[in-house]
Amino acid sequence: MLRIDHHLTADDLSKALRRDAVEGLTAHPKSLPPKWFYDERGSELFEEITRLEEYYPTRAEREILGDRAGEIAAATGADTLVELGSGSGEKTRLLLDALGAAGTLRRFVPVDVSGDFLSEAAAGIGAAYPGLEVHAVVADFERHLHLLPAGGRRLVAVLGSTLGNQPPAERVSFLGDLHSGCTERDTLLLGVDLVKDTGRLVAAYDDARGVTAEFNRNVLHVLNRELGADFDPAAFDHAAVWNARAEWVEMRLRSQARQRVRLAALDIDVEFAEGEEMRTEISAKFRRERIEAELRAAGFTLETWWTDSAGDFAVLLARP
Ligand code: AVJ
Repeated sequence: MLRIDHHLTADDLSKALRRDAVEGLTAHPKSLPPKWFYDERGSELFEEITRLEEYYPTRAEREILGDRAGEIAAATGADTLVELGSGSGEKTRLLLDALGAAGTLRRFVPVDVSGDFLSEAAAGIGAAYPGLEVHAVVADFERHLHLLPAGGRRLVAVLGSTLGNQPPAERVSFLGDLHSGCTERDTLLLGVDLVKDTGRLVAAYDDARGVTAEFNRNVLHVLNRELGADFDPAAFDHAAVWNARAEWVEMRLRSQARQRVRLAALDIDVEFAEGEEMRTEISAKFRRERIEAELRAAGFTLETWWTDSAGDFAVLLARP
């Protein structure tokens, strides 16, 4: 009952990393896409972030799903849970349990770029839910949405405010692609972080113990290993900045001194000025009107909106 489709090879990933590194490190200002944080160490650091006092989104979303999974199951009648950017499994189980209790659950489709992560997660879920068809898909869900298994009544979940890592134009095209792949029987479950007090937003991305700083610098370790680069991660400071106009938190790495970095696999040298900042992530924070408008632009209608008791985070259900 376990099947894994591969739409991404190690070679695809290494080409994509090279392209992103050349583009981002030769641009002004420099930037790197956040997807390269998540090697084994980066994924562990992210797990640690989700347990930090300052990082409220994971707890808030878990509270909502814990309270509302039954309602979600009833409203969707889904037989398939598709999870884009498969998380730690805990939230997945809340949804699977509710769909199981409602008697509709048949199939689970976790989708992630990491094959190792997926096969482990898929095997774990397969063992815990006997009789469940697990159809894992190794794919980049920003590009491979058309390759997802169709049929049945699908609940497509994009949790953890993953959507917020894309800038607005890319979000709308991603949601549009998602919409193209949906039938009127499918539903979309989206978890989004909300605009709030700037101090709390910034603290969530700049924790006192420095776990997020390590997570941020981890991308430099990834470039060192994968591209034969010689970044000294300790020579970069972590910064988290609230961009009030765009309503996103930006993570940056700031060069402590003027330095030159060699990327052997790309045969390029990159210069950093003292104090120069490189953007490594945007994490958009939403208001209801904004996400509702973006969904509408992509063809979805917002049906239900739930927040945690503190009003920090929202989970919403939308129909194509
Ligand atoms: C899981 C990608 C949504 O943006 O909040 C956590 C990643 N970055 N701390 C987020 C993250 C810094 C997280 N996402």
